[in-house]
Amino acid sequence: MPIIAVANQKGGVGKTTTTLNLGAALQEAGKSVLLVDLDPQGNLSVAAGIADIDTVHPSIGDLLALTARGRASAGPFIDNAVVASPCGLDVVPSNSALSVAELGLVSALNRESALASILKPAEAKYDYILIDCLPSLGLLAINALRAASGIVIPVQADFLAVQGLAQIFETIAAVREQLNPDLNILGVLLTLVDQRTAHSREVVKTVRSSLAGQVNVFDTEVRLHVALKETAKAGRSILDYDTNSPSAQAYRHLAREVLQVCGDEAIIAVEPVSPTTAAELLELPVLVATVPEPERTPVAVRQPRATAPTFESFIVEEWQRWLGTSN
Ligand SMILES: Nc1ncnc2c1ncn2[C@@H]1O[C@H](COP(=O)(O)OP(=O)(O)OP(=O)(O)O)[C@@H](O)[C@H]1O
Ligand SMILES: [Mg+2]
Repeated sequence: MPIIAVANQKGGVGKTTTTLNLGAALQEAGKSVLLVDLDPQGNLSVAAGIADIDTVHPSIGDLLALTARGRASAGPFIDNAVVASPCGLDVVPSNSALSVAELGLVSALNRESALASILKPAEAKYDYILIDCLPSLGLLAINALRAASGIVIPVQADFLAVQGLAQIFETIAAVREQLNPDLNILGVLLTLVDQRTAHSREVVKTVRSSLAGQVNVFDTEVRLHVALKETAKAGRSILDYDTNSPSAQAYRHLAREVLQVCGDEAIIAVEPVSPTTAAELLELPVLVATVPEPERTPVAVRQPRATAPTFESFIVEEWQRWLGTSN
């Protein structure tokens, strides 16, 4: 029964969107799925349609706080925290109580394994547990990586987002060595791919070529699609909100890849991901600003850097330091 952490310390790369929609696609494929919101922002809880997260009790933060104080045995337990959310998925919600709980964990004996012990009773009830991590590699994320058997790493198709990959590979290597030798990288997922820009296409190509044979990069690419923003507001998954959209198909395709990489037998009928249509391209306007170049008097002639690293060599060098131990 896989527990999958959806993690990347970089913010805004599609972790929450992926957790919700991958969960919905796994459920559509006949799997029982539990989503765990491990971010004090509570984005997953809200995106799943849970209103007023601040009044939710018990939340994952409440359970972690009790565990950190050694008072978990009297309950409440994980079962009591599961909400049948309006989007149709079981969710353990989060709110600001999680930030307080993290502080309590710092001095706890079981500080890295608290989440694993909380999730234990749920493991027999669900086929898949997906943990939506916060954008940090602190104690909460370490708890997720300690509890998980696999990790999905959403990466925005953007240079700076990709550059941060070295850091998460390093953390995974450390977690595997010290806390959880069974942690597998299920795959890197390219998100927010904008096929219209050469930059985005170049990042996709670089990630694929430089990780080839070392870390799985899912064939699925999640493209920019404004409906994925609207779903969060509507409290629904994209599979429900716009079931025939390329994004819904992309998440179905991802679910199939995840099932395969987890050795699961389930087969989902998936339409091939259709190329982005002209209409979709028009959905997100390309902003083109033409600023007149000011007249400049050169004050010094700067020599070009003969050894300036290319985009590819720059990030790949960083990754290579960790890849040997991280997968
Ligand atoms: N493919 C996409 N196309 C368009 N918008 C997207 C896409 N994926 C995610 N978004 C939007 O981008 C924003 C960031 O996505 P999301 O919240 O999933 O990222 P995150 O990694 O969980 O962020 P955080 O690090 O803050 O937790 C959200 O507004 C989301 O609706
Ligand atoms: Mg998030």
